[in-house]
Amino acid sequence: MQEQIAQIRQAAVESAQQAATLQELTNAKVRYLGKKGELTKLLRSMGQLPPEERPVFGRLVNEVRDELEGIWAKREQELFQLEEEQRLKAEALDWTLPGRRPMRGTLHPITLVINEAKEIFTGMGYEVVEGPEVEWDYYNFEALNIPPDHPARDTQDTFFFSEKLLLRSQTSSVQIHTMEQRQPPIRIIAPGKVYRADADVTHSPMFHQIEGLVVDEGITFADLKGTLQLFIERMFGPEAKVRFRPSYFPFTEPSAEVDVSCIICGGSGCRVCKDTGWLEILGCGMVDPRVLRGVNYDPDVVSGFAFGMGVERIAMLRYGINDIRLLFENDVRFLKQFGM
Ligand code: PHE
Repeated sequence: MQEQIAQIRQAAVESAQQAATLQELTNAKVRYLGKKGELTKLLRSMGQLPPEERPVFGRLVNEVRDELEGIWAKREQELFQLEEEQRLKAEALDWTLPGRRPMRGTLHPITLVINEAKEIFTGMGYEVVEGPEVEWDYYNFEALNIPPDHPARDTQDTFFFSEKLLLRSQTSSVQIHTMEQRQPPIRIIAPGKVYRADADVTHSPMFHQIEGLVVDEGITFADLKGTLQLFIERMFGPEAKVRFRPSYFPFTEPSAEVDVSCIICGGSGCRVCKDTGWLEILGCGMVDPRVLRGVNYDPDVVSGFAFGMGVERIAMLRYGINDIRLLFENDVRFLKQFGM
C-alpha cells in the first residue's frame, strides 16, 4: 500500500511538472486528485486494510494529497505567468512603426482643370449646369443658327444616330437648353464631353469642353474680354500672354478665337503649338441676335456673350503635357503625378 502511494505520488509530481499549459495541468489534477482520481480510489480501498492500519494509511494519503495540492498550486502559478507572458508578447504593439498609408488615388488632370474652372467662374457669380450628350440636331445645330448645308454638319465630323439624333459635337447645345428654361439674367458654365468623328495625333473622338453663357441687359464685348482675361490669368498665372483673333461661328457675331502663349516652349515654338508659340484654347463671341430670337428673347432688350473652351488643350498648357494621348491612355504612372 505504501509502495502504491509512493508510485502515485511520483507519477502525479511528474505529470504536474510536464504539463505545459494550464489546461494540461487541470487534466492531470483530475486524474490524480479528482473525485474519481487515483488517490481517491486508493483511499476508498482502505476498507481492505486491517482496522489498526487504517489511521496511519489515511494520514499518509492525506499528507500526499496536501503535498500534491501545494505542488499544483505552485505549478499553476508558474504556468499562468508563462501564458500571460506569451499572450502579451503576441499582442505586443510597436508604437514606433510607421503607419500603413491607405492607397490614395489622384484626380485626372481633365477633372482638375474642370474643377478649377468651376471654382474660378462660380467665384464670378456663375452657375454650373449640364446638358445631355445624346442630343437633338435642333440643339446642336439648328437653334445655333447652323443651316443644313453648313460643313460642321458633315457626317465626317458628327456622329449621327439618325437624321435628327446625334452625339453632341459641342457644348453650345447647353446654351439653348438653358435659355429655353430660364429668363435673363443668365450666367452659366456647362462642362462636359463632346464627340467628333476624327482621331489622330492631336484629336480624340471624345474630348471635353466648358461652355459659358452670359445674357443680360447691356452686355458688351468688353465684358467678354474682361471675363476671359481674368479667367486665363487665374488659370495660367499672370505671365501667360493672351491674344484675341477675329473668327467666325454661326451662333456668335462678332466672334473671336483666343490663344494663350505656349507655356510648354515659352513661346519659342514646339510641336504642341506647331511652332507658332501660341495655342488656341477657346472660341467666343457675342450671342447672335438670331439665336436670341430663336429662344424668344428680344435682342433689342438683352444681349450676351458665349464661349467654348477645349479642356484638353488647357490641361496640356496648365500641366506642361506635350502629348494629348497621355490624357486618354490613363497610365497610372502618368496620372499619379497629379495631386488631388
Ligand atoms: N462651340 C464652338 C466650338 O466647339 C466654340 C464656341 C462656343 C464659339 C461659344 C463661340 C461661342 O468650336
